[in-house]
Amino acid sequence: MTQLSAAQSPAPKERAPDSSKALYGGKGTRRITVRDITAAKERGEKWPMLTAYDAMTASVFDEAGIPVMLVGDSAGNCHLGYETTVPVTLDEMAVLSAAVVRGTSRALIVADLPFGSYQEGPVQALRSATRLVKEAGVGAVKLEGGERSLAQTELLVQSGIPVMSHLGLTPQSVNTMGYRVQGRGEEAAQQLLRDAKSAEAAGAFAVVLELVPAELAAEVTRSLHIPTVGIGAGADCDAQVLVWTDMLGLTGGKMPRFVKQYANLRGVMGDAAKAFAEDVVGGAFPAAEHAVH
Ligand code: KIV
Repeated sequence: MTQLSAAQSPAPKERAPDSSKALYGGKGTRRITVRDITAAKERGEKWPMLTAYDAMTASVFDEAGIPVMLVGDSAGNCHLGYETTVPVTLDEMAVLSAAVVRGTSRALIVADLPFGSYQEGPVQALRSATRLVKEAGVGAVKLEGGERSLAQTELLVQSGIPVMSHLGLTPQSVNTMGYRVQGRGEEAAQQLLRDAKSAEAAGAFAVVLELVPAELAAEVTRSLHIPTVGIGAGADCDAQVLVWTDMLGLTGGKMPRFVKQYANLRGVMGDAAKAFAEDVVGGAFPAAEHAVH
């Protein structure tokens, strides 16, 4: 039998990327884990994340293939009627997170640790995160801050709780920071880079970058082995997140520039409510087919 030399052997067929593993559009039905998120960064795959605060909405996004859902403390503004995220409690997060977990079967569910539930230190953070993991069944938690939350992130990760870190505009600090673009200027940019590296070193599996200049977000994304999840942080982040009520046009009022609206649910729901009211007032509803005999 003759053996072909390397130079004579036919070129190996180029292997198509394994699309069955894709976070979005993949074929798997088991729940996505943080290991899948790490693998997606290694493949250079981009992925979407949406917030969710209730079982039914979460089930729609799960069926649509959204691989990661965040039970954000934006629930404060978007679901619970507060003005900011600051008043949201751990009890509220536990109820909302459990509902989102029940409504989904594939997405990785990440829950925010609300303001006041981890700032005292690592032990308080562990107690709070443990509740969300045990009672609500979430697969990971998110907390705000890089260097300032280093000890909390380390203890949670060492204890087996995956952590997503949140940098840039951190809404729980609205009373000191306001709602402004973060990381502008050399010193602020260096601090953001330090925060991102410190979150990675502490064991975080991903970093949200909120309202950060696109060039800086791109630099952070290149510098980390873990994925960045952008919101108002440009196109070069590994993933993108939007608040679902903004993305679907349910939130009223002026939207930030970084929001793209994919539907006008506020209009659809308002029109449907008016049509129902007019049918009731005018006697068109219920019609004969809606009656039970
Ligand atoms: O609470 C939230 O919805 C968030 C996103 C904006 C990332 O933290």
